[in-house]
Amino acid sequence: MARKGESIRTINVAVVGLSGVEKDKGHAGIGKSCLCNRFIRPHAEDYNIDHISVLSQTDFSGRVVNNDHFLYWGEVLKSIDDGIDYQFSLIEQTEFIDDASFQPFKGGKMEPYVKRCTATKISSAEKLMYICKNQLGIEKEYEQKVLPDGRLSIDGFVCVFDVSVVPSRSIEKQVDFCAAILNNILKTKKPVVMVTTKNDESNDSFVREAHKLVQRSEYKGNIPLVESSSHENVNIDLGFLLLAQIIDKTKLRLKIPSYSEAALAR
Ligand code: GTP
Ligand code: MG
Repeated sequence: MARKGESIRTINVAVVGLSGVEKDKGHAGIGKSCLCNRFIRPHAEDYNIDHISVLSQTDFSGRVVNNDHFLYWGEVLKSIDDGIDYQFSLIEQTEFIDDASFQPFKGGKMEPYVKRCTATKISSAEKLMYICKNQLGIEKEYEQKVLPDGRLSIDGFVCVFDVSVVPSRSIEKQVDFCAAILNNILKTKKPVVMVTTKNDESNDSFVREAHKLVQRSEYKGNIPLVESSSHENVNIDLGFLLLAQIIDKTKLRLKIPSYSEAALAR
């Protein structure tokens, strides 16, 4: 068996889930950015709860957003106890809204989000890593890390599902949207892990809806579900590490404690 440090596998992940204008996603996002932030920069002082979604045209065409509807979050090294190290590169697939028209910015060819977010070949020349909202416009005052070679080949997906109650968003809407994404991911033949967010404010029936969704027969029991909270820093690495193990076809798989078990064990 590989000993610690002997091998580093590279895993490129896209974080996806309900995105769009307020009419689609409700009064708040589902927690994609907070999950990415906590995973890439876990320390309390690097964790922001407020991330970008409504932008000026200038910020949209700046080098961080770079006229794309995805963010490059950078890299992080994580280990599993059996001695395997994984280097993750992370992108967040979202939809940026113009603060003048409150409509999504028009990019090149704009497919609907549920299709676009499952792209496995990502490219954007000279795109800078996103760190936080305040970085926009004063990029030089932050670490400037460029998306290597201007491209990324996605190995697997983390599909986010919000189990908290958000005004102006129905649970049916989120289930349908998420199912459409999962069906498109299935077509890519890449693995996916479902991560529920905001379990610190969860609604029991929404938690059940998420579990019911991954148990649909078309997914053949192949979609693990991890219950997380970015604010409470619970079960953050687990979803990504499980995805890495599936991509890596490892025999051993991490156990998945429920949110309450994981929160107690901290
Ligand atoms: P868009 O990219 O704009 O579609 O949103 P998003 O999916 O990236 O959501 P984001 O991470 O920006 O979070 C949206 C809101 O949910 C913010 O107000 C966050 O503070 C809140 N939020 C995110 N994670 C958690 C969490 O773990 N617990 C709670 N209670 N709130 C959270
Ligand atoms: Mg976001």
